[in-house]
Amino acid sequence: MSLVCLTDFQAHAREQLSKSTRDFIEGGADDSITRDDNIAAFKRIRLRPRYLRDVSEVDTRTTIQGEEISAPICIAPTGFHCLVWPDGEMSTARAAQAAGICYITSTFASCSLEDIVIAAPEGLRWFQLYVHPVLQLNKQLIQRVESLGFKALVITLDTPVCGNRRHDIRNQLRRNLTLTDLQSPKKGNAIPYFQMTPISTSHCWNDLSWFQSITRLPIILKGILTKEDAELAVKHNVQGIIVSNHGGRQLDEVLASIDALTEVVAAVKGKIEVYLDGGVRTGNDVLKALALGAKCIFLGRPILWGLACKGEHGVKEVLNILTNEFHTSMALTGCRSVAEINRNLVQFSRL
Ligand code: FNR
Repeated sequence: MSLVCLTDFQAHAREQLSKSTRDFIEGGADDSITRDDNIAAFKRIRLRPRYLRDVSEVDTRTTIQGEEISAPICIAPTGFHCLVWPDGEMSTARAAQAAGICYITSTFASCSLEDIVIAAPEGLRWFQLYVHPVLQLNKQLIQRVESLGFKALVITLDTPVCGNRRHDIRNQLRRNLTLTDLQSPKKGNAIPYFQMTPISTSHCWNDLSWFQSITRLPIILKGILTKEDAELAVKHNVQGIIVSNHGGRQLDEVLASIDALTEVVAAVKGKIEVYLDGGVRTGNDVLKALALGAKCIFLGRPILWGLACKGEHGVKEVLNILTNEFHTSMALTGCRSVAEINRNLVQFSRL
């Protein structure tokens, strides 16, 4: 089967994976209303193309936090890549480096951070932190990340407790995920799920200054969905926001990411960069997110589909397909550069 779009990869990945791994990747929280709406909401937006604008040269490059990326299409943090491909995050990192985009490595990576850096030493990497209840352990981890050359610290906010994922409960995922499942090529490198670092339930806005005091890395807050929290993020001097609902895996029935983007962008008034993840599956989706003010988008599940299908090459193909689609979307709407993508290109439709 030739795989020509991201949903082809989804279908093919389903055939490669065990039921519990498939459910772990695809699952949403509770009734999966938000997971599905993340995708449906993009389809409620229509495009307003402009023509007769020489598009013989279209440039998809942009910057995030001052670093150039080849396209505004990057990799969101997802845990346990060794579940879907033997050398897991190392393959993901190589593909990201080859594509010239940013890869946010998860706290729950199944390869060690050192191995990931060795696999792709030139790649642009950010590190995603689940705040540990023992502050000093966060400090050690952040210092390690900083010395390994990660360029930003992404703190995930939307997991004060874990969302209610019915499939994982039915599949007894926590009990069944063992060291064997998570083995990376270097045995013993991985963390069993049930020994994973706990996530703090008590950290709050005032704790941010502590993080700022121990690192010089830019701090990006992942999981903001409201103007109130966006204003607080600006007030607390962070450098960026990822509008995200964790792919619909945390609180169900929140707004789709693309629907929350407009209010967050308006609230930050251009003072910090705003990014988006959740439900991005086509080049048109990328264009719509940028038109509504995102500086770039991040992909969660599609990267795992690529990895499950063909490892590093699968991730490269997923990134390549989406970049080509985005290039076409730009040309067909009359945008020669990312800077030309603007709010007038989109219109919300009542479908
Ligand atoms: C995630 N996500 C996530 N987020 C995070 O901050 N740390 C993590 O370790 C993980 N792990 C994780 C595992 C899996 C299997 C999935 C599907 C998601 C959420 C992720 O970063 C992102 O917000 C969503 O996946 C984006 O939505 P799409 O692209 O999957 O629709």
